[in-house]
Amino acid sequence: MSKKTFIIANWKCNPTTKKEADRIFKTVKEGINKTKKTQVVFCPPFVWIPSLISSENSGYALGAQNCHWENRGTFTGEVSPLMLKDLGCKYVIVGHSERRNYFGETDEIINRKIKTILKSNLIPILCIGEKEREDNEMGLIVEKQLKKDLDGILKSKIKDIIIAYEPIWAISKGAIGSGKPCLPDDAVKASLFIKKTLMTLYNRSTADKAVILYGGSVNSQNIFDYVKEESINGVLVGGASLQANDFIKIVKKTEEL
Ligand code: PGA
Repeated sequence: MSKKTFIIANWKCNPTTKKEADRIFKTVKEGINKTKKTQVVFCPPFVWIPSLISSENSGYALGAQNCHWENRGTFTGEVSPLMLKDLGCKYVIVGHSERRNYFGETDEIINRKIKTILKSNLIPILCIGEKEREDNEMGLIVEKQLKKDLDGILKSKIKDIIIAYEPIWAISKGAIGSGKPCLPDDAVKASLFIKKTLMTLYNRSTADKAVILYGGSVNSQNIFDYVKEESINGVLVGGASLQANDFIKIVKKTEEL
């Protein structure tokens, strides 16, 4: 896995036209040019992926926001990891709280998806995090999700998985999230807790290789507070990734670290 700082753009169910998707992508691409310290990953809706893939994609990569747990078969409406791989994607977001909450994705489903994503030689970006901002909630939920989502996954595979801590209360503009970013100290606390849990589930050297991100209301104003932390290897950006100029600033500020 890259030692660079990850900046993952999660466009969610936006924008509604190809023209606008191309415009955002082109503006950001030109604005960030070549990156040295950051690995930028665009995760647009499935349908915009083909037009964003290009042969001279130095400095950025493409990912999807979801996939099916099987690679082929009688599953109407599904998109499989192998299809995404064939298109040129390298990453797949899995277990995002919006999928868990609106589409009934359980930890068992997420676990099956991670296994198929890994088998297809793609990198899963596993999202975990608690719903309420209450004492103990983070530890309880994060530990439970990690145990179930990673069930049966070999320790040698942990270095090929990105784990994004995304407390639901910190995610912007959704029906559930408040949009109040998590204090950097609390994001650090969560990332260290994730490491500790991986140490218990596997061992220390496996936990040390884990890539851990923070996500929830990240923007160009607060990006530095998170990426300057040693235990946070990057960010997952929702709303601000659709604002081309804000996203360019996020990448540039990370490059200046
Ligand atoms: P946000 O979304 O940056 O708009 O809060 C983050 C996410 O849900 O991945």
